Amino acid sequence: MTGALNDQVIFITGAASGIGRATAEAARRAGAHVVGADIGADAELAELDMALPLDVTDAQGMAGAAAQIMKEFGRIDGLVTCAGISVVGTATEMPLADWQRALDVNLTGTMLAARAVLPHMVAAGRGAIVTLSSIYGMTGGTGNTPYNVTKGGVLQLTRSLAADYGAAGIRVNALSPGFIETPMTHGLHAASPVRSAFIDMHLLKRAGRAEEVAKAAIFLLSDDASFITGANIPVDGGFSAAQVIRF
Ligand SMILES: NC(=O)c1ccc[n+]([C@@H]2O[C@H](COP(=O)([O-])OP(=O)(O)OC[C@H]3O[C@@H](n4cnc5c(N)ncnc54)[C@H](O)[C@@H]3O)[C@@H](O)[C@H]2O)c1
Repeated sequence: MTGALNDQVIFITGAASGIGRATAEAARRAGAHVVGADIGADAELAELDMALPLDVTDAQGMAGAAAQIMKEFGRIDGLVTCAGISVVGTATEMPLADWQRALDVNLTGTMLAARAVLPHMVAAGRGAIVTLSSIYGMTGGTGNTPYNVTKGGVLQLTRSLAADYGAAGIRVNALSPGFIETPMTHGLHAASPVRSAFIDMHLLKRAGRAEEVAKAAIFLLSDDASFITGANIPVDGGFSAAQVIRF
């Protein structure tokens, strides 16, 4: 098969569901060998070229995963960090454990995945990393403090990685999706008036599809994005471009 990622080895965390799963499928269509890590849905992972059941907060497990990929394929060309959780709450109302879990999975988990693959990419003199932030990494939002903070942190992590590893030939970019139809948002907003109000804040007046985020990830992984690093691309139907106010 030929494509934008022909014969490349792409590692995707959170590959069993939603955006991660769609990215895994798109990467395979683009010609890549796809390795997926996730804590759930082993059956979905098993469809990939290599399945690594793994909690992204497990530093040792993550380093071991990168070693396993190197042993099997001899290279890691790309990483997409899709593993993430939605954690709501305010500073005074959230359990401290919720705050910590959001930091652990969304921010530390992203850093650990990058930390595991970077030595191999640096040795090869090339590589591309795509992180998953959110519209709530770029703007505030009520009742969503742990998530907002971790996704803002992912943007700064992305820029910091781009700064530290650009000279080694590694590109690091973020995607910031708006409301995307996945199991994550289904659980949050199904049958709720919040859902339609939220969708109305997107200029395109609809929710996005996981495949639409996946296409942007494939672009950033590919040589088509060869001079793009440290960037954040909103895939948000215009959510971040304007405020929806009726005059
Ligand atoms: N869906 C949206 O509207 C939306 C919007 C903006 C950003 N995002 C971000 O995109 C990413 C993917 O979200 P999604 O909508 O596909 O969600 P999802 O719930 O469908 O998929 C997330 C996957 O991550 C896995 N995961 C969770 N914790 C993990 C852990 N500790 N270790 C390993 N795997 C773990 C889950 O098992 C699941 O398979 C997340 O980082 C999310 O914050 C999603």
